[in-house]
Amino acid sequence: KETKLWGGRFEESVTDAVEKFTESVSFDKALYKQDIMGSRAHATMLASQGLMSESDRDSILKGLETIEGSIEAGEFVWRSDREDVHMNIEAALTDLIGEPAKKLHTARSRNDQVATDFRLWCRDAIDNIVISIRRLQISLVTLARKYNSLIIPGYTHLQRAQPVLLPHLLLAYVEQLERDSIRFLNCRANLNFCPLGACALAGTGLPIDRFMTSEALGFTAPLRNSIDAVSDRDFVLEFLSANSITAIHLSRLGEEWVLWASEEFGFITPNDSVSTGSSIMPQKKNPDPMELVRGKSARVVGDLVTLLVLCKGLPHAYNRDLQEDKEPVFDSVKTIIGMLEVSSEFAQNISFNAERIRKALPAGYLDATTVADYLVKKGIPFRTSHDIVGRSVAYCVAKNSQLQDLSLDELRAINPVFDEDVYQYLGVENSVKNFSSYGSTGSECVAGQLQYWVSKLGI
Ligand code: ARG
Repeated sequence: KETKLWGGRFEESVTDAVEKFTESVSFDKALYKQDIMGSRAHATMLASQGLMSESDRDSILKGLETIEGSIEAGEFVWRSDREDVHMNIEAALTDLIGEPAKKLHTARSRNDQVATDFRLWCRDAIDNIVISIRRLQISLVTLARKYNSLIIPGYTHLQRAQPVLLPHLLLAYVEQLERDSIRFLNCRANLNFCPLGACALAGTGLPIDRFMTSEALGFTAPLRNSIDAVSDRDFVLEFLSANSITAIHLSRLGEEWVLWASEEFGFITPNDSVSTGSSIMPQKKNPDPMELVRGKSARVVGDLVTLLVLCKGLPHAYNRDLQEDKEPVFDSVKTIIGMLEVSSEFAQNISFNAERIRKALPAGYLDATTVADYLVKKGIPFRTSHDIVGRSVAYCVAKNSQLQDLSLDELRAINPVFDEDVYQYLGVENSVKNFSSYGSTGSECVAGQLQYWVSKLGI
């Protein structure tokens, strides 16, 4: 067996079970790029501070280049007896270039190394997520544009409420995704501070330049406190919280589209390319991708909870427990990107059944609130007008008709304030036309929103 990099004080090697249990290279090898980046910056800084010769630095940089190439070519042999990504790369570098490699870990610990790698990794992941969010926003805005005048029933409590323009609802998701995006970018800015040089926990007496490595790695500044730098994973908690909130938004989108694809709603028809069938029922066509978007949000939330519980009881500074922080983050990122991409594809592959929706619109007295507003315009206090329209609805329910079918005499029998012009407020089209407040579902307001997003997204 090879002696461990930390083997100096040990007389026995670890048992196979312990080795297997404690290794992390099987998953943290995903950090190889960031680890090599960090080592490059570190070696360069050590040389510039006189802690390493320029020729040692050059052989380290060259060796790292070779190792990176062999990892990317799939030729690198990851060894679990070398524990993690950090020691695999350092040991491979020693195999490759010999003595100079032994200087690389000067004024560095795996504790600050892993914290640095992981912040770099999360930073890249955030950039990718933000791109996927944009893609989904574009798909939704494209859909909103295509159906820019389609009126659908708006719901509260999943009961018919008021008529809304379809683009208004679609743009609600776009707004939510925009806040998600901003949340990710805030999280990126918060985590973009450099732990490197904090060493094990206390820093070092060697004359390193932490500002130099921080800058080389694109961080805003080095973290001020070395104990904080190696101990905390709050940046991960924040990141997974952002993932969870986005996952919840997508889950709601999934739920809505699953409902809309049902026979009962029949608002949308997904293309075959985004549907799956049943192994027993030959007629079935299911919206599985959006069901799984809803389902996978559970994993993303679960990953956050794993991290919260992981961190809860840890004394300062580094604890090996923290090695458990990687897999939930990898899982969460892979899942959220999949959810965003599939939602986007689904949006590109559905059609709205305008005819079916139109036929469904008269039911549910969607124009009732508009009529109440009409009475307010006639000088009736809102509470009174609410009551008048409520009684009108009850009258319609009893005779199984719509408000717009009532004659002026019938309306006047309920309250004499009704006038001929009430018919300009009745029915869903009139009702939508009547909305005018900022942010409302009125045609002009929605057109304005649509224009805002089209130009913001550059489509
Ligand atoms: N594999 C470890 C992790 O992911 C790296 C840091 C190990 N540090 C240590 N002192 N054992 O957290």
